[in-house]
Amino acid sequence: MSSQWDAASAKIVHANSKATIAVVNGEPRWDELFSRYTVRYCQLQTAQWYSDGKEVWVTDRTGTTRIDAILWRVGAIRLLPLYRSVLEIIRFTGLPSVNPAETLLRCFDRLSMYNEMKIAGLPLLPQQIAIGHRSVEKMNPNLPCVIKVGNFHAGYGKARATSEEMLADLRDLVFAADDYVTAEPFVTYRSDIRCLAIGSKIWAMKRKGAAWKANTQTVEATLLDQIPDALGDYTTAAMRHLRADIVGLDFLEDEEGKYWLLECNDTPGLSGFPEDTAQSVADCLKRKMS
Ligand SMILES: Nc1ncnc2c1ncn2[C@@H]1O[C@H](COP(=O)(O)OP(=O)(O)OP(=O)(O)O)[C@@H](O)[C@H]1O
Ligand SMILES: [Mg+2]
Repeated sequence: MSSQWDAASAKIVHANSKATIAVVNGEPRWDELFSRYTVRYCQLQTAQWYSDGKEVWVTDRTGTTRIDAILWRVGAIRLLPLYRSVLEIIRFTGLPSVNPAETLLRCFDRLSMYNEMKIAGLPLLPQQIAIGHRSVEKMNPNLPCVIKVGNFHAGYGKARATSEEMLADLRDLVFAADDYVTAEPFVTYRSDIRCLAIGSKIWAMKRKGAAWKANTQTVEATLLDQIPDALGDYTTAAMRHLRADIVGLDFLEDEEGKYWLLECNDTPGLSGFPEDTAQSVADCLKRKMS
C-alpha cells in the first residue's frame, strides 16, 4: 500500500496495491468475478468524485479510494444532470470503463438514445414529443397510445391510454412531472424480446408480463435458442454505432411480424440470462485494464 494526499477530502488516504475497480451501483456479486482485483462498491447517489485530470478518486462514508477502472451498473434511479459530469471525468481521464463513458453519455437520456438509434438505422416507433404543459395539450396521438415521461427505467413513468378520458387524465398528471413527455402508438405485440449483446455474443429472451409491460410483474421469461436474423442485425448495428461493450435492446414484434425497437439500455440487467454473461462482462473490463 502507498499513502497519498487526497485533495478532495484533505486527508491522507491509502491506494491499494492491487488495481481497484469501482463498481457503481452494482450487484454484490462482482468481487467473485474480479478475484485478483480490489472491488470498491459505491453508489452514484452518495459518492463524491475527485480527479487531478489523470487519476480518479471516489469518496463516501467508507473512505476515499483511488480507482483504476469502472464497472457502471447504474439501473433504475433518477438520473441527475450531475451524474453526467461523473461520466465526463471518466471520459477525460480515459479510465477503462464498461461501457465506455462515451457510450454511456450518448445513451444517458432517453431522447439522445432514440437519436442514436435513429442514426444507427433501428426501427423506432413514431413519436410525439412535448416540452411544457401547453405542448402536452397539443399532443393528439391515436388510441391506444403509450405516454412516457422523462428518462426512467423499470416501467416507471410509462402509462397506456386506451380512451380519451384516460389521455386527458394523463395530460393532467404529467403536468406535475415537469419533464419532457412522449406519446407513441401502443403496439399489440406478439412478443416482447430483450436482446443482450456482450462483445460479439448475443442472447435473446422473450418476456411476458402480467399486464401490458413485459418488464414488470414478469410471469414468463424464455431464452431463445435462435435469434431472429433481423434482431441479430439490429443489435450488431447498435453495438457498432455506440462502440459499446454491452447493450440490452428491447424489441416488440407486432401482429404482422415487424419488429420495433423500444429502447437501447446501456447498462442492462443480466437476470434471466445465462450465469456466464456476468463473467463475460468482467472479462471485458479485465481486457481493457491489461
Ligand atoms: N409502445 C408500446 N407498445 C406496447 N408495449 C409497450 C410500449 N412501450 C413499452 N411497452 C411495454 O412496456 C415495457 C417497458 O417499456 P420500455 O422498455 O420502453 O421501458 P423501461 O421501463 O425503461 O424498460 P427497462 O426497464 O428495460 O429500461 C416494454 O418491455 C413493453 O412490454
Ligand atoms: Mg425496457
